[in-house]
Amino acid sequence: MEVVIAPAQELAVLAAEAIEALLRRRPQAVLGLATGSSPSQVYDELARRHAEGGLSFARARGFMLDEYVGLAADHPERYRNVIAADIAERVDWPADQVQGPDGLASDLSAACAAYERAIADAGGVDLQLLGIGTDGHIAFNEPGSSLASRTRIKTLTTQTRVDNARFFDGDVEQVPTHCLTQGLGTIMEARHLVLLATGRHKAEAVHQLVEGPVSALWPATVMQFHPHATVLVDEAAASRLQLASYYRQTYDSKPAWQGL
Ligand code: F6R
Repeated sequence: MEVVIAPAQELAVLAAEAIEALLRRRPQAVLGLATGSSPSQVYDELARRHAEGGLSFARARGFMLDEYVGLAADHPERYRNVIAADIAERVDWPADQVQGPDGLASDLSAACAAYERAIADAGGVDLQLLGIGTDGHIAFNEPGSSLASRTRIKTLTTQTRVDNARFFDGDVEQVPTHCLTQGLGTIMEARHLVLLATGRHKAEAVHQLVEGPVSALWPATVMQFHPHATVLVDEAAASRLQLASYYRQTYDSKPAWQGL
């Protein structure tokens, strides 16, 4: 696992560079998309590179990590709408090439199975962007999730609903209680995992992710088994890392051409 400690804007540039390098090499690449605060500067940087540098998403495919269950189709916090506003509509990405699990399906289990098939039919995810919850979730795999889980319905923890209330006028009652989420087993099949975390409130989750014992109690720890995982953190999110100086030394001595 590679850990990079840098200011948030630099982290966003690094992640955007990795995505741009992938799309230039493989225009039909499959990108895994996270929602929330963590990737927003990455999406800003990608939109800038599209506008100023001709970076194209026209042939790419996108798969979202998760979706709330039951939010109305036009609800601004429905993740499909968030991803459209944050990235897809800011670049040349055809709407039908970006998909998420269907949180409005009448048969949610069938929708999850269909989503797994769609990812497999696309050839799997090349690069998966991730954030991390303060409780250690990735996507919405809350503590206790099977490390081998696939796309399924999950109950959100009270902690996650409180954390996400900021997107719902600060009212936790408006935050849905359930979601559909890619499983940890699904996420682990992506060829490159790029996780972003900023802020002191993420420090314990980042410490567990990188240095803790692998455990369903901190679901993100499953990433320790991934052969190509990159963890991008600012100083505050890195503040509990025991080996921070070693990660800095390793990254500082890496050849610039190597990328993430
Ligand atoms: C969202 C998702 C979640 C978030 C996590 C952190 O698609 O998968 O795991 O990445 O809850 O959220 P932020 O970035 O808003 O702190």
